[in-house]
Amino acid sequence: MKRVFSGVQPTGNIHIGNYLGALKQFVELQDDNECFYCIVDEHAITVPQDPKELKKHILDVAALYIAIGIDPKKSVVFVQSQVPAHAELGWILTCVSNTGELFRMTQFKAKSHGQESVGTGLLTYPALMAADILLYDTDIVPVGNDQKQHIELTRDLAIRVNNRYGKTFVVPDGRFLKTGARIMALDDPTAKMSKSAVNEMSRISLLDEPSKIKKAIMRATTDSEGSVRFDIENKPGISNLLSIYSAFSGTPIEELERQYEGHGYGDFKKDLVEITVNALNPIRERFQEIRYSQELVDSLRDGAERADAIAVKTMERVRDRLGMGI
Ligand code: AMP
Ligand code: TRP
Repeated sequence: MKRVFSGVQPTGNIHIGNYLGALKQFVELQDDNECFYCIVDEHAITVPQDPKELKKHILDVAALYIAIGIDPKKSVVFVQSQVPAHAELGWILTCVSNTGELFRMTQFKAKSHGQESVGTGLLTYPALMAADILLYDTDIVPVGNDQKQHIELTRDLAIRVNNRYGKTFVVPDGRFLKTGARIMALDDPTAKMSKSAVNEMSRISLLDEPSKIKKAIMRATTDSEGSVRFDIENKPGISNLLSIYSAFSGTPIEELERQYEGHGYGDFKKDLVEITVNALNPIRERFQEIRYSQELVDSLRDGAERADAIAVKTMERVRDRLGMGI
């Protein structure tokens, strides 16, 4: 059995990009692996958060995890700040990392670009992410393509510690999906679908009502050629919609191209609406059942206990290797 670890930030608007790029694999992996799925509230506070909203979003994401099919009895589902070792190892790995490699991270560059003042946590964030992963002797990290650089850094830090202090960490591998690894914004297929875009129609959130899903897809940017063909360079809009269709239906893109030969974008989009609504309806219903239940809170407490038991052991090993403590 392999160890799997991944995390999602507790922010609103979890969208089909998050689902198809990352969350969907979480469910698939839990049958044959020992999985840890974390809600990373310590990552969330790298930018200012409203306390009430943050608390709400933590439980929202936890309920979504379960609604998409993660079984909290099988997998360990927990909130990062409930396991103190994350912050502790995060600090140690911050000290192992160099400012140069942190400044090079494209996510840091993107998030700090044009800002007058940038929080230090935004820079050191990848060291905390490495801590999340390395605490559990993780073999596999299922994430979207945008996290590739952070996984590379995690591997570098693990290898650096192992070389300096003797074997301490398992060096993990990223697991990136091909289709769905990068879902683009519906209103601008050259930008990544994002939780924070101002235009609601740029994304489909997992809890969106059918009427909103329909509006967003029917309005999605395409091109004037009118043929349903995958060509990222010249037809990024329809290519993105084909990726979404394929990821939800399991039908390969080439087969969809054949199926829609001679049809306009209207027919294709109508079918995509149906496929998407059918995929998201059960998730929204299950979410509503469990979001305000005691069962949800109990699962998170239980998850934190199970995670903590392992993390505490890893920290004993790390402190010992580095010569820390008494
Ligand atoms: P975040 O929204 O940054 O908290 O990301 C949560 C997970 O979803 C990460 O594994 C990301 O790589 C993935 N993800 C975020 N946006 C997209 C997107 N547009 N397409 C595919 N995966 C994404
Ligand atoms: N940085 C990830 C993101 O923004 C979230 C994350 C934090 C994560 N810690 C992790 C993902 C550990 C995988 C493993 O999406």
